[in-house]
Amino acid sequence: MTAAEKVQIFDTTLRDGEQSPGATMNTGEKVLMARQLERLGVDVIEAGFAASSPGDFEAVKRVAEAVKRPIVLSLARTRPKDIENALKSVANARRPGIHIFIATSKLHMRKKLGMSPNEVLDAACRAVEFAGRFIDYIEFSAEDASRSDPDYLVQVFGEVIKAGATTLNVPDTTGYAVPEEFGALFRYLISHTPGGQRVCWSAHCHNDLGLAVANSLSAVKNGARQIECTINGIGERAGNCSSEEVVMAMKTRRDFFGLATNIATREIYPTSRLLSHITGLTVPINKPIVGDNAFAHEAGIHQDGVLKEKRTYEIMRPRDVGMASNKLVMGKHSGRSGFVDRLKTLGLLRPDVDIDKAFARFKELADLKKSIYEDDLRVLIAKLVLETQERYELVRVAPSAVINLSDKQHRRHHLTRARATVTIRVDGKPKTLKAEGDGMVDACALAIGKLTGHPFKLERYGGSKMTGGAEAQGQISCRIRVGEMSMDGHGVHTDVVTASALAFVNALNRLEMWDRYRQRNGGV
Ligand code: KIV
Ligand code: ZN
Repeated sequence: MTAAEKVQIFDTTLRDGEQSPGATMNTGEKVLMARQLERLGVDVIEAGFAASSPGDFEAVKRVAEAVKRPIVLSLARTRPKDIENALKSVANARRPGIHIFIATSKLHMRKKLGMSPNEVLDAACRAVEFAGRFIDYIEFSAEDASRSDPDYLVQVFGEVIKAGATTLNVPDTTGYAVPEEFGALFRYLISHTPGGQRVCWSAHCHNDLGLAVANSLSAVKNGARQIECTINGIGERAGNCSSEEVVMAMKTRRDFFGLATNIATREIYPTSRLLSHITGLTVPINKPIVGDNAFAHEAGIHQDGVLKEKRTYEIMRPRDVGMASNKLVMGKHSGRSGFVDRLKTLGLLRPDVDIDKAFARFKELADLKKSIYEDDLRVLIAKLVLETQERYELVRVAPSAVINLSDKQHRRHHLTRARATVTIRVDGKPKTLKAEGDGMVDACALAIGKLTGHPFKLERYGGSKMTGGAEAQGQISCRIRVGEMSMDGHGVHTDVVTASALAFVNALNRLEMWDRYRQRNGGV
């Protein structure tokens, strides 16, 4: 295969993504995320908007110091103060940059900025020129470009190139564009803007009509060589272009796009999970690429096809995005032969397994649980063969916390101390422990890990309400990791901390059971 032209991935999870409700991250969390973005291989990290608050300034600075390979930049309006702040925030970066923006649509110029087109042009050029005295890497964005007059954009972009801009960004700020039209806008701008051939053109799409990925792909098909996107597609309103989707579309359809990225795609799934864990924003199960069901097959015909040849129903390999394996989901519609087939593929069809009994248990489980995953089958067989009870039983959870509401700057309640006293019966004997953590759920997790002798990491954690009203039952689902092994767990309760504790204990029981079975069979 010939070397394909590269498209730069500009990650704005920490700026545009973080602007979305519920996605606020503190400085430490942003640094953690930035390090993972570097592992993922993004080319540019937009770490924040330094002038917007001292907290944002500090976060950009810390991110700039934490990563080496990607360019780190801060957003700035055209005001000199904004530019000074942005430049200071990235001063210690190995590869610093700045991202200056101003709106160019008639609506925004007139109603939001109260400026004439000439004033906007002047402000843009002065800002870029000013920044250019201190830094080489300057991106300029024409906010609301997709609703701006293309000839005015040609004029603005031509002048900012002269002033020193090296990347020109064309945002679909309101998610209004449609792919053909957005692609045509790029073609027009690239061919008509004086100096347009020597800069990098960038697409920044919002997802209000669900077209952000399609619009970004149309842009690259028409000459853009940078895509601005966020992990899991988080961002203002309906979000931004989702990195995982746009990257995998170019990789999977390289025959069509003829383009490549620097993304280490096996880091996609871990990055998605880390963000979800940090923000608490769960990934929908049917989300392309990173959703739980993205590689899960339930229909009998599909399962049959995938067992014979994965490519029948899979256009990507789960391991290429960092997922362990494809999942063949079983449910109450699965027949006996499909069930036996699954046991065989999973290495669970051994002489000590009573198939009739196992299938009867599977049907009972299918009545209680809509989707049965590979781990459920492993635990089902382990339980059947070992004929033992679960080792751990949650007896009591007593959480307590002191919450300080004064941390307005970070727009989050600051939990100064959280504790949980947990009692668990281990092989029938009650044991109690008190632990302190970052939150009540964290304190519970620490206590349970210590009580069972299995300190675990949370790979995934999320919840949903099952019933309405004040006494609503909530379900917590988690995936824990102990050493090399991972396992799902679920807990239901009216209190979210108790539901979490039940989920952790459930996951540990399942993991324990499966581990014992594995050891008995010399590792499966
Ligand atoms: O959506 C938008 O227009 C932006 C700009 C600041 C680039 O986020
Ligand atoms: Zn945006």
